[in-house]
Amino acid sequence: MKKYNIITYGCQMNEHDSENIAGMLDSMNYIYTDNPLEADLVVMNTCSIREHADKRFFGMLGQFKNIKKNNRDFILCICGCMPQQDRIVEEIKNSFSWVDIIFGTHTIGEFPNLLKKRLETGKKQISIVGDSSKICTFENTRRLFKHKALVNITYGCNNFCTYCIVPYTRGREKSRSLDDVVREIKSLSEDGVIEVTLLGQNVNSFKDINGNDFSDLIREVNKIDRIKRIRFMTSHPKDISDNLIECYRDCEKLCKHIHLPVQSGNNEILRRMNRHYDVDRYKEIILKLRKVCPDIAISTDIIVGFPGESDDEFKDTLDLIKEVQFDSAFTFIYSPRPGTPAADFDNQIPDKIKHERFDRLTEIVNESSLRKNKMLENKIVPVLVDGKSKRNNKMWTGRSEDFKLINFFSKRENLTGEIVPVLIDEAKTFSLDGREDIS
Ligand code: SAH
Ligand code: SF4
Ligand code: F3S
Repeated sequence: MKKYNIITYGCQMNEHDSENIAGMLDSMNYIYTDNPLEADLVVMNTCSIREHADKRFFGMLGQFKNIKKNNRDFILCICGCMPQQDRIVEEIKNSFSWVDIIFGTHTIGEFPNLLKKRLETGKKQISIVGDSSKICTFENTRRLFKHKALVNITYGCNNFCTYCIVPYTRGREKSRSLDDVVREIKSLSEDGVIEVTLLGQNVNSFKDINGNDFSDLIREVNKIDRIKRIRFMTSHPKDISDNLIECYRDCEKLCKHIHLPVQSGNNEILRRMNRHYDVDRYKEIILKLRKVCPDIAISTDIIVGFPGESDDEFKDTLDLIKEVQFDSAFTFIYSPRPGTPAADFDNQIPDKIKHERFDRLTEIVNESSLRKNKMLENKIVPVLVDGKSKRNNKMWTGRSEDFKLINFFSKRENLTGEIVPVLIDEAKTFSLDGREDIS
């Protein structure tokens, strides 16, 4: 039997696409291996969000040349956000002739056919379309976890933040129907899933053909018996409605966490990023959320070194972080993406300044994370267990409701998929340590 491996870069959208691609290969009688070097077929599911991602990808692509040389039957497939850009497809065709199959974010469903054709003809197969109004759902999915699942609710993005490549790689925003999503989650729950993450680039702009919005969807999912936890990724501040905020009061299964990217703490920068909210509006949302759900954890994304960002404008971001007290933040150095408006803006910030700002930002974000985590010391928190900790195999690892990474000791075995009460002994910046509470 032939073996396959999938290398996944980027966001949870890609992670979920990879689960679907794995499902297709399983039903074509391929066997999964976690070692790409012993695989007969490798799929690279790519991301293009920052330049660093491009570089890593081409580096990796180069490494497959020798494998292909030694094994002419080896098949290399490229998919994801990179081939949605013509310049990348040209570069692969010109400089990496050993790639066998290229497909895009709208043609995942064609993969089994492309593979069959490649095996029959020995010829390179390419199928990419710029955009697609069709929503594909898949029969077989090889989920990474039995107890939790990623569920797409929207595809694509219409926001065109001036720095971002996603609207060009994922196309226009489309929502699935509420009924369809609920049907999928019910079926997952019958299969043992107790936590779902509703996925989209901007989940809170979900609007289905019957006029249901995102809060309607959460309320429906909340009614599904065996589902214990509901999460979502990612929400956009401009589309946070009072109805959604009220879900944190009314829906007991909605986890007390929101990832709400702010990007910058300065109004002029937010305007030039095309974000459609200002700092006061962002702070107002946080206040409202904390009013209905006082212990809600708030995480965010921040970009430093956006074109034209002055030192004072950057300091506004630091001030916002100090004021809001985020539980955690993903911090990024602005990376110009060819084809996006901001890549052509004047006053690109020199690398040295970007890095200095990044270091100052990280320090303040980390202080805030540690302070927030310390508040959990000596408390008992329910943790949904994902498995043994990779760092210390005597410990278990999982997430609290507020999305903190918890590592803990227990005298029991086989805890994966269980919700376990954990007494927190020590808070660190990126995780917390504890032990199962048996009192
Ligand atoms: N749809 C999500 C985010 C998707 S990309 C949202 O709008 O919130 C994840 C994060 O990557 C973004 O929030 C942003 O902070 C960062 N990002 C996107 N493009 C970037 C770029 N060109 N340079 C640096 N960071 C970027
Ligand atoms: Fe990119 Fe903005 Fe869309 Fe998020 S909302 S995916 S940052 S364009
Ligand atoms: Fe990357 Fe595409 Fe996701 S660019 S972040 S994999 S939508």
